[in-house]
Amino acid sequence: MDRTLVICKPDAVERGLVGEIIGRFERKGLRIVAAELRALDRDVLARHYAEHVGKGFYDDLVAFMSRGPVLVAVVEGPEDTWSVVRQMMGATNPMNASAGTIRGDFGTMVTENLVHGSDSVESARREAAIFFPDLQQE
Ligand code: RTP
Ligand code: MG
Repeated sequence: MDRTLVICKPDAVERGLVGEIIGRFERKGLRIVAAELRALDRDVLARHYAEHVGKGFYDDLVAFMSRGPVLVAVVEGPEDTWSVVRQMMGATNPMNASAGTIRGDFGTMVTENLVHGSDSVESARREAAIFFPDLQQE
């Protein structure tokens, strides 16, 4: 089994799209092994988005990600679940994301792009440990 971290971002919560997004992963055959609605502060975002600290878009990203609650979840599937989730999310810029993907179907703005998914096996492990340190390893 393989796990990845998913975040339904504040825009998804505000727009009532959490069920739609999580439902897509469930209908795909992936399983939710942990999930919680949380407010993310500057410190946890700096750990989660460590690779982006200092970039031009970072302050906007933090302002957006901390403006309201998010749903943080760990999703499990047979193998390369992180990649399956990333394909279902679509391109970072929703204007470039294919129809049928979450960002392609519901987004128009590059910052407010509804959903986060880990971008490798290593990222998935690192990120899941930030948000769910007590979760049993698979
Ligand atoms: P994520 O980490 O949230 O799953 O998104 P991603 O891998 O598709 O994209 P990444 O390059 O990791 O960027 C993280 C998030 O920062 C915002 N962003 N804004 N204005 C910009 O140019 C810009 N670029 C990135 C987006 O919210 C993106 O998802
Ligand atoms: Mg990323």
